[in-house]
Amino acid sequence: MSEYTFYVTVERGAEDLVAKDLLENFRGIEILREKEFRGKVFFRGREEHIFLMNFSARSINRLILVLLHTRNIGSLNLIYKHIKEIEWSSYIDAEQTFAVKATRVGSHNFTSLDIARVSGSAIIEAFQEETGRRLRVNLSKPDVVVHVEMINDHLLVGIDTTGPSLHMRRYRVYNHPMPLKATLAYLLVRLSGWNPNEEKLLDPMCGGGTIPIEAALWARNIPINRFRKNEYLFYNLKFLHLEKAEKIAKQLLSKETRKELHLLGMDISEEHIKGARMNAKNALVADTIIFTQGDARLLDKQFSSESINVIVTNPPYNLRPRLKLYDLYEKFLAAAWKILADRGRMVIITSERKLLIRILRNINAHFQLYNVFRYGSLNTGIFLIKKHS
Ligand SMILES: C[S@@+](CC[C@H](N)C(=O)[O-])C[C@H]1O[C@@H](n2cnc3c(N)ncnc32)[C@H](O)[C@@H]1O
Repeated sequence: MSEYTFYVTVERGAEDLVAKDLLENFRGIEILREKEFRGKVFFRGREEHIFLMNFSARSINRLILVLLHTRNIGSLNLIYKHIKEIEWSSYIDAEQTFAVKATRVGSHNFTSLDIARVSGSAIIEAFQEETGRRLRVNLSKPDVVVHVEMINDHLLVGIDTTGPSLHMRRYRVYNHPMPLKATLAYLLVRLSGWNPNEEKLLDPMCGGGTIPIEAALWARNIPINRFRKNEYLFYNLKFLHLEKAEKIAKQLLSKETRKELHLLGMDISEEHIKGARMNAKNALVADTIIFTQGDARLLDKQFSSESINVIVTNPPYNLRPRLKLYDLYEKFLAAAWKILADRGRMVIITSERKLLIRILRNINAHFQLYNVFRYGSLNTGIFLIKKHS
């Protein structure tokens, strides 16, 4: 059975959380420690992992099959030489089109456009020498997408097996103006340690419902391929045993369950609550989440004390006027603390790190600032807060 090296692209700062998640969910992979690459997790795995992960890995954006990783590359000539040495006819058919996506991190005396240009020429010329045929480029809808990345002096070349990023789950029909990525929502739920068999989980500022919906999809084993069909790029990779993909897709879909869950979503906006219900319906989990309109500052009026085991939420941030934001965070946290059961947990993702730390210290809450993401243009923290009597 052939082994491959892969990397998955993930939210920056989430590398360790994703590595743990992949190890828990995919047997037979070996995580490779490549710490210098932010936003990527490398591993060794088999062909079936291409299908399994694209269909069911909830924490990743894309899965790239690595063709080459080498160091000490400082010029376009060397990039050209290394890319030309790859046996491209093993990966692309003569009738297929391709495109190069080039990126660059560090200081170089060439641009990513230069990298794309020389890589494209190297692929066309290598292919022509191997087969006598000239490959065509198609930038808008290529059959095969080759990623070429220069990260300082590392050259990384791979083939995209995914296509559109998996964080776009395709069940979303209502678009909240500031949605949380579904991949992050899933990771937050897992970080909270929510036990779907017995614990109640609440998102009191749920917007379009991403957090409770991702919690329900995970707990019910509903895979990503339930909502996405033929858009995966691996279907164009003729060197794979694609008949296996269909088998794996069916197997995953047959593992779905319909168990009872205790999931609650709340938002101050009626419009968002309506949207969250639509999203949940489209994600096939509407029967297992209760969405209500309500004010997170008054949680202790809506829920009895110590009645919720887990709160996972993504409150507003970076808002003006600041006093309104202080008021929301202070009242929400004071009320949340009251309704949280003994041994309850809260996971909060926000860029308002200083504000949250100040309030948590005031209420004597034990917390870990778990990770720092760059979410959009803001540095964002994930707080894991635990309540012990
Ligand atoms: C960053 S958004 C959450 C987005 C959500 N995670 C998603 O993926 O769609 C913050 C949400 O908090 C809600 N919100 C603001 N103040 C609130 C309050 N006092 N009580 C409840 N919800 C509130 C807003 O309406 C908004 O939908």
